[in-house]
Amino acid sequence: MTLTESTPAHSAPITERLAPIEIAPETFVIHDTYSPPGAPGAVHMNSMLIRGAEPFVVDTGTPLNRAHYLDDLFGLVEPEDVRWVFLSHDDIDHYGNVHEVMDACPNATLVASWFLCDRIGVDRLDVPPMRWRWLNDGETLDIGDRTVAAIRPPLYDSPTTRGIFDPTTRVYWASDCYATPVLGPTAFVDELDPDVWSEGFQAFQAWNSPWVAMLDAQRFAEACAVIERLAPTTIATCHGPTIGPSQIDRAFEMLRRVPTTPVPPQPNQLVLDEIVAAIESMSAELTS
Ligand SMILES: [Fe+2]
Ligand SMILES: [Fe+2]
Repeated sequence: MTLTESTPAHSAPITERLAPIEIAPETFVIHDTYSPPGAPGAVHMNSMLIRGAEPFVVDTGTPLNRAHYLDDLFGLVEPEDVRWVFLSHDDIDHYGNVHEVMDACPNATLVASWFLCDRIGVDRLDVPPMRWRWLNDGETLDIGDRTVAAIRPPLYDSPTTRGIFDPTTRVYWASDCYATPVLGPTAFVDELDPDVWSEGFQAFQAWNSPWVAMLDAQRFAEACAVIERLAPTTIATCHGPTIGPSQIDRAFEMLRRVPTTPVPPQPNQLVLDEIVAAIESMSAELTS
């Protein structure tokens, strides 16, 4: 089955969980897999931890997965040891537990930006400015035993987006970019059928950043080259399996093709009708 074939509209939520995985020395992806009703598959809501001399939390997961996320994170690092909490952008799936993490970690500084604090603050940001550190696209931060760089990925869905590149492990956290939906918990893209990966990759990038279709192909290739020149050996992404060394070149190639590759349609009203019918049918069974 491919990801854009019709999946059961009333598919059950994903209950199987992936434990955190060390994708590079002292660098862990914390997994979450979410499958809303009617979605063509599932999508990861991952985050990351760099457990160096000054532990560096990369995004803070979703509120829906709060208990599991906090268990996973604090199973890897003591709260008192966390020194930095980096938010890649102001979407709830990236800052969903920021208050819980900042409250639990008295020695942590929130690594954000003016615009990010401004946009989250419209809703609520209960972290005082004395605990902020602003890190813009292209800037670096010394975190004790390494200096990480904030680098915006070529595709994103918020103007505040910055990824994180760690030159000591050559891991790049791509935020929403290089993502792909999955059929269930999947740690590495090597586990995906190559065609499923390609199809899901195209759908995710084009749906999450629909403006990519307006881009000049050459200018977009230059944006892709910014990441390619970093020479990452591993790309971790919030919304997909980790891309290891053997698949990096393929990921680069697929990303460059996004503006000129057809975009699969999103679920429409017919799919919603299926969801509603399934819910009504289940309710009728329960009450009969
Ligand atoms: Fe986003
Ligand atoms: Fe996201």
